[in-house]
Amino acid sequence: MSKTIYMDNNATTMVAPEVFEEMRPYFCELYGNPSSMHSFGGQVGQVVEEARLRVARLINAEPEEIIFTSCGTESDSTAIFSALQSKPEKRHVVISRVEHPAVKNLCENLDNLTGHKHKVTQLPVDEEGMLDMEQYRESLSDDTAVVSMMWANNETGVLFPIAEMAAIARERGILFHTDAVQAVGKIPIDVKKLAMDFLSISGHKLHAPKGTGVLYVRKGTPFAPFLIGGHQEQGRRGGTENVTSIIGLGKACVLAGHYMQKENSTVRLLRDKLEQGLLATIPNAMRNGHKTERLPNTANISFEYVEGEAILLHLDRFGICASSGSACTSGSLEPSHVLRAMGVPFTAAHGSIRFSLSVYNTEDEVDYVLEKLPPIIADLRQMSPFWEDRAKIAGGGSCGSCSCQK
Ligand SMILES: Cc1ncc(COP(=O)(O)O)c(C=O)c1O
Repeated sequence: MSKTIYMDNNATTMVAPEVFEEMRPYFCELYGNPSSMHSFGGQVGQVVEEARLRVARLINAEPEEIIFTSCGTESDSTAIFSALQSKPEKRHVVISRVEHPAVKNLCENLDNLTGHKHKVTQLPVDEEGMLDMEQYRESLSDDTAVVSMMWANNETGVLFPIAEMAAIARERGILFHTDAVQAVGKIPIDVKKLAMDFLSISGHKLHAPKGTGVLYVRKGTPFAPFLIGGHQEQGRRGGTENVTSIIGLGKACVLAGHYMQKENSTVRLLRDKLEQGLLATIPNAMRNGHKTERLPNTANISFEYVEGEAILLHLDRFGICASSGSACTSGSLEPSHVLRAMGVPFTAAHGSIRFSLSVYNTEDEVDYVLEKLPPIIADLRQMSPFWEDRAKIAGGGSCGSCSCQK
């Protein structure tokens, strides 16, 4: 099979053909600036407003509650800085240990970035990646300015009980932000039924182009802009709008609403077939993440005593794209902070692979992965000294290949 089998949709997605078609005229023909006084620009402004309406509809928001940004990261930063600025007397932030770096790294650097001392509570998760709600309640104090909790984890797909958490924060008068970058388009969201103040979206996770995002800000929530400049976005985000991508995002939201049922039926069935097939045919393999409270498209599986990067390289030879749970980009083989927070043993965390599917995957592709992956794991284990020594390693000691802590 020479074709690419793309199962890395939590990293990024293909721009849907319908999205691309909708964007096309706005590159070379209708390229006006939506803020211009002439009608050539004005007509583009109208299309941007249509896109705003389409995004709002997907999460049942009002169009004026939608601010276009450049990405999920910008939306996360905007929400957290805005909350802190609107409650300057409060210096406590609550997040989880498994947040995406867009939230985690920001909160860990708040003191440097703001020049003020903050207390950041990072709530632990259990072995299934789930929070303890009692611990969450107890973490909130009169000094808490904002809670920022991801809706769906990008590595495991685990879904936090955001409705309940937002309601608890509101009872205490605390602002609530959810990084819903992995959730929007995959599960139904109705902000009118929820008590959150801010919600982040990223276009490239739902078949729109890279470089566009959204921050939902509930009407009445105090707001301070992050990018200060022109009067775009009603003065809430300076900078000329990324018009083509915004138009694409609007169309992608229409498609996401249309495909939601499919995501939760067909995609879920494919994911389950893949996961169950791999767990049944490969010894010493285990699922990471909650069995049911999980995105329908994500499977994170550990194959003990092999390196995730080696598995990825072998899959790549067959055109199969997935991700590993190790922070390979940093040059170390440290397992991801998410799997560490879940207490996944090092022998398993190093060999974790995330498959994230989309409505564009097929059963033939799943069958192909089920055919190719078991022999890859078997071959790698033949070459792995840890596989031979597994009884000894399981009983204690270290893997010896890296600086991981047991
Ligand atoms: C949960 C989560 N939050 C935030 C981001 C950042 O989004 P962006 O790439 O649009 O900045 C990602 C991207 O992987 C993510 O998965």
